[in-house]
Amino acid sequence: MNRKEWNNLAGTFEKNVCDISREETADQIKRYVARAKIPKRGGVLVDMGCGIGTFILQYGHRFAEIVGVEYASSIIARAKKRCADVAGVTWHTAGVEAAGKRIGPRADLTVCMNVITVPSAAKRRAMWDGIAAVTKHGGHALVVVASIEAERMIEKLLDEEPADHANGLVDHDGALQKHFARDELNQDFSRAGFAVKKIGKAFYPWSKEGLRSTPKLRANPPWDWVALAERV
Ligand SMILES: C[S@@+](CC[C@H](N)C(=O)[O-])C[C@H]1O[C@@H](n2cnc3c(N)ncnc32)[C@H](O)[C@@H]1O
Repeated sequence: MNRKEWNNLAGTFEKNVCDISREETADQIKRYVARAKIPKRGGVLVDMGCGIGTFILQYGHRFAEIVGVEYASSIIARAKKRCADVAGVTWHTAGVEAAGKRIGPRADLTVCMNVITVPSAAKRRAMWDGIAAVTKHGGHALVVVASIEAERMIEKLLDEEPADHANGLVDHDGALQKHFARDELNQDFSRAGFAVKKIGKAFYPWSKEGLRSTPKLRANPPWDWVALAERV
């Protein structure tokens, strides 16, 4: 999806977008945030592709300074409204790729959740580099990406013809979206200058796949990969 398409979703974001820090069902994000070393005083959070600001609303109070980066102007406008009562936030209507130049390597925690979705490997690389550019050495990054293993599990459960998904690209309503294998996530993080500490599953409800839960589906919830890494 491009910036214009994201802007078109601003009004219906909660209905149409998986806001993983709100929707995940097993408190993984909370656990991963707890593992990141956030200083008791003066901590800096950078949320890359912050959407309507849900992570900032949930976790912003742990930081002295927060930077929200989001390239869709109608979406960041909603984030600003929703987070009006959170202290110490500055906002950048900008791409993740270029945020490093504006912000510098200041984050104790950088989060980038369900933002690295573009089919182009070169564009994804620029996004990983953007995450590295805003994270201070010894700081942490928390990244959530779509899982190709989960996509294959879903196809199997629904008795669909297994698709090839070359390069992890999955067709969602005519738009190709990158899905990562667990190892690939590890490699991309490492290439960007991070040491991966933990990778796990952030489960979300079947309703986000447009399906009503049945006992069989309930026993096999879909997931995104969530990973925590330290900037080295
Ligand atoms: C699936 S939403 C996730 C929002 C938020 N991180 C969350 O978890 O709720 C993806 C968001 O990333 C933004 N986005 C996508 N590509 C971006 C880019 N290159 N730079 C900045 N924001 C981007 C979109 O506009 C959208 O708001």
